[in-house]
Amino acid sequence: MKKISKRHSFSSKYSTTDIEFETGSKNRVLKNKLGIISIREMNDREIIEYVKGTKKLAEYFSFDHSFSHVDICLIHKTIFGNIYEWAGEYRNVEMSKDGFVFARAKYIPDLMKEFSKSLLQPQTPPNTNSSKDLSQILAKIHVEFILIHPFREGNGRTIRLLLSMIAQQAQYAGMDFGFIKDKGKEYKRYITAIQSGMKGNYELMEEIIEQALSC
Ligand SMILES: Nc1ncnc2c1ncn2[C@@H]1O[C@H](COP(=O)(O)OP(=O)(O)OP(=O)(O)O)[C@@H](O)[C@H]1O
Ligand SMILES: [Mg+2]
Repeated sequence: MKKISKRHSFSSKYSTTDIEFETGSKNRVLKNKLGIISIREMNDREIIEYVKGTKKLAEYFSFDHSFSHVDICLIHKTIFGNIYEWAGEYRNVEMSKDGFVFARAKYIPDLMKEFSKSLLQPQTPPNTNSSKDLSQILAKIHVEFILIHPFREGNGRTIRLLLSMIAQQAQYAGMDFGFIKDKGKEYKRYITAIQSGMKGNYELMEEIIEQALSC
């Protein structure tokens, strides 16, 4: 598989400041279709749309579906399409979080095709329902997707939803990542797992996935 870690320093052409914010939001809320300027209102709206989108997607994808990068864009568009113009489209700005830099924007289309061809499509639907084997598959999918970070926003929610649908293909009720939501100790563990995956160590993420499968 092509290395998914083409993460160079920012080019001068792009920076996260290229992201447009909603006027009046003090650069706190991304420009959106609804003119929302309050973080709380946006959080609430995103939850509503996420729940609606999850239901739609569960009806749309069959249990024997082999997921691809095109489906990932559809998932993102379904969840965020009523809120953001760019839902379902790859970002064209560079992104980092707390100094951790994700793939450069210009590589995203190729990286997503490669991710799909080498990892996602061959592993879905999964041909195992052992929680150990499934965790290994899902951990790698999770980490590699996040390192690409193809969208401006909503990457975590998109991949966790996809993983949940893949788990359902393997006869699990779904996955519960509730324990990482509070941005506390468990969230830090989750971020460490992503960063370890960057060095090819998926074990920490496997533990997190197993925990989410058993919730
Ligand atoms: N410091 C970091 N280093 C590496 N990966 C990170 C870091 N902070 C966040 N992440 C990853 O990026 C994701 C957040 O990306 P993004 O904001 O696009 O998704 P989200 O759905 O809006 O957020 P969340 O996953 O927190 O619900 C996290 O879920 C995590 O996987
Ligand atoms: Mg986010």
